[in-house]
Amino acid sequence: KKIAVFASGSGSNFQAIAVAAQAGTLNVEISLLVCDKPGAFAVDRAEMLGIPALVISPKSYASKAAYETEILQKLAGLEIDMIVLAGYMRLIGPTLLGAYEGKILNIHPSLLPAFPGKDAIGQALAAGVTKTGVTIHFVDEGMDTGPIIASTAVKIAPGETKETLQKKIQRIEHSLYPEVLEQLLNGEEEAVQWEKSVH
Ligand code: GRF
Repeated sequence: KKIAVFASGSGSNFQAIAVAAQAGTLNVEISLLVCDKPGAFAVDRAEMLGIPALVISPKSYASKAAYETEILQKLAGLEIDMIVLAGYMRLIGPTLLGAYEGKILNIHPSLLPAFPGKDAIGQALAAGVTKTGVTIHFVDEGMDTGPIIASTAVKIAPGETKETLQKKIQRIEHSLYPEVLEQLLNGEEEAVQWEKSVH
């Protein structure tokens, strides 16, 4: 199976997926990084990992449909089976959703449906909750709303800061995303839905 990873920022999840693929714990070909932010560190990581990158700025297109059509053509040319969003800071439009129905995944740093959207970690801290987490879900037209595939809870310790909590969350993300991808792409259907205990 071939996947394309979409990222807008640092790309640490992209790298974790790529490293798992190189190590053979994830049996998938990462054919492409799609990045909508020229200069994002994810693009440097792609270069270091030897993975081709499509760096594409939505501003250069007349519409979201035109922007996504350009991406779609590239994905079709590479025969990409699945789209994996990893810090891609943009809603997926009808063009990509239509072509990859049920084949787009996202990872979000909260226990959805709690704290969707931007700065989920800051939202959880501001709300004063004692646990948050990581959720992997299928993407639909909404903001972090599609069917949930897996989630892992993370305790919020007293005195936790955004930095310490983000570190904990990212550590979970980097192991959960490759694991869920392997299950989804190569595992038994029934094993896909699961929930992990509190870390
Ligand atoms: C991750 O925390 C992910 O949950 C969220 O954006 C962040 C991306 O981080 N959607 P990175 O670019 O993979 O380092």
